[in-house]
Amino acid sequence: MEVLIRESAEAGCRLAAKVIARVVREKPDAVLGLATGRTPLLLYRELIRLHREEGLSFRGITTFNLDEYVGLPATHDQSYHWFMRENFFRHVDIDPAHTHVPDGTAADLQAECRRYEERIATAGGIDLQLLGLGRNGHIGFNEPTGSLRSRTWIKILSEQTLRDNSTVFGSFDALPRHAITMGIGTILDARRLLLLAFGPAKLRATVDMIEGPLAARCPASALQLHPRATVVLDEPAAAGLQYADHYRWIDRHKLDWQRYE
Ligand code: F6R
Repeated sequence: MEVLIRESAEAGCRLAAKVIARVVREKPDAVLGLATGRTPLLLYRELIRLHREEGLSFRGITTFNLDEYVGLPATHDQSYHWFMRENFFRHVDIDPAHTHVPDGTAADLQAECRRYEERIATAGGIDLQLLGLGRNGHIGFNEPTGSLRSRTWIKILSEQTLRDNSTVFGSFDALPRHAITMGIGTILDARRLLLLAFGPAKLRATVDMIEGPLAARCPASALQLHPRATVVLDEPAAAGLQYADHYRWIDRHKLDWQRYE
């Protein structure tokens, strides 16, 4: 796992934007897997800036989001459809027809999960999957003790995830209890993973993900199985890592072509 520690979330997001911008420039028809949540907000802002000021084009890009709440239509302001449109898609030149978010209102949710997997395969698979990290170690909405080989499916959200997300949603009771999410197996199929974790609330999950055993109690520890996973942390999220100095050493001694900035 490539572990990159930066002084702040802002610096981490600038770095992550450079990683994504390089993929987009090298492969203008790349397939990107995207995430929602508080963590990538500054990253999307930086990508929008690169689009406006440095001509970064998303015209040929296809995207697949990790997840969506069951029951929320795309017009709901807490849906992930809405989040992506407001925070990224409508500010860049991406073709809306090439953006995909699971349909949480599908009459047949199981068929929608199968269709989502098929659409990813038809697009040629995901070149780079962006991920956030749940305080309990989840990625996508794959909660602790779920299968590490799961595919896109309907998941029941844990009470902790509901409480974490209700601060954004405004109300615990109104928050849907179910979501469609790419599975861990779906995520591991991406050719490259880029996970961001910022702030002290992510400290424990960060340690478990990077230095803990591969274990279903920390779904993000599955990243240890991926040949090309990059993790970007700020100092507070990295504060519990036993090998933090080693990761900094590696970062300082990279060959030029291994650097992003
Ligand atoms: C979002 C997602 C979730 C979040 C995670 C962290 O699409 O799949 O796994 O990445 O819950 O959320 P934030 O960034 O709000 O702390």
